[in-house]
Amino acid sequence: MLNPVYKAHHSPCPTARSPFETDLIACLEGAIHQISPKYFYDDEGSRLFDQICGLPEYYVTRTEIGILERDIAAMAACMGADAEVVEFGAGSLQKAKLLIDALEQPRRFVAVDISGEHLHRAASQLRNRFPGVDIVPLVEDFTGIDTLSLPPLLQDSGRRVGFFPGSTLGNFTPIEARSFLKSAARLLAGGGLLIGVDLVKDPRRLHAAYNDAAGVTAAFNRNLLARANRELDAGFNLDAFEHYAFYHPVLQRMEMHLICLEPQHVCVGGREFVLQAGESIHTENSHKYTVEGFQALAKDCGFLPKAVWLDPDRLFSVHWLASPRTHGKGEVQ
Ligand code: AVI
Repeated sequence: MLNPVYKAHHSPCPTARSPFETDLIACLEGAIHQISPKYFYDDEGSRLFDQICGLPEYYVTRTEIGILERDIAAMAACMGADAEVVEFGAGSLQKAKLLIDALEQPRRFVAVDISGEHLHRAASQLRNRFPGVDIVPLVEDFTGIDTLSLPPLLQDSGRRVGFFPGSTLGNFTPIEARSFLKSAARLLAGGGLLIGVDLVKDPRRLHAAYNDAAGVTAAFNRNLLARANRELDAGFNLDAFEHYAFYHPVLQRMEMHLICLEPQHVCVGGREFVLQAGESIHTENSHKYTVEGFQALAKDCGFLPKAVWLDPDRLFSVHWLASPRTHGKGEVQ
């Protein structure tokens, strides 16, 4: 058990906690220690994730890019001319380049990501490459899709379409995934969503992808605690945490944990916690879908699955989900 030891350090006039601090305290207080994977992505985490994307074991990125390169014209045709694109979890915007290149007269490209510095760097590169397209970086948490401060649709634009590559939806809990898709169907009514979804496959391939030989995924995982040390002065001993990633075949997901190897004290927001050897901090789930299962989910959330593109080995899928204009406000919840 991870025990809160004392609460004596509260200042009489506490300054507001950051969302990371609040959620890390909740994680350490809970009987099961779990925290959202969105906290991986500070500048260092985003840099490590870009490195993961190039690893030989991590088939996800290169397979999705292969599908995009092969079929981007058909995908762009589904999105239509004069579209306003919103990319959720834009990261380094590598895939955005392929899409913008293929679209007919895209009007605006709003790139939403939680990692500010990383996003601004990528957005200015994109502006240089596509001077005629209005590139708008939006540093926000796109998991709260209903509260995004998107610019209003341009009057003469075609329609709003979403782009959500990388299988980031897999990092949401099933409830969060449902809620995201329902909100996206409303936001994109009259347009649609182009989304990358990783598929259920041989668990050995999955295991290798999240346990790479170079140890980059392990460093990415530990960066969550390194970030807590940098930003919150938490005092985690990083060397005493084991990266532990495995496939859960019933829940059809990869799980990533950090297992504490020796007892240690940490301090977050004036609260001290003791971690015992063997305790786990659950840092990420990465759900895998079947094509049929994902299409059924999308349909249930108000989308019409219109097309799906796969690689020859059926490792990864890219779906075009149309969103009918007719959703009444109460229709899709
Ligand atoms: C961003 N996301 C889809 C990645 C995944 O595969 O779940 C994050 C990641 N975690 C470990 N490796 C990559």
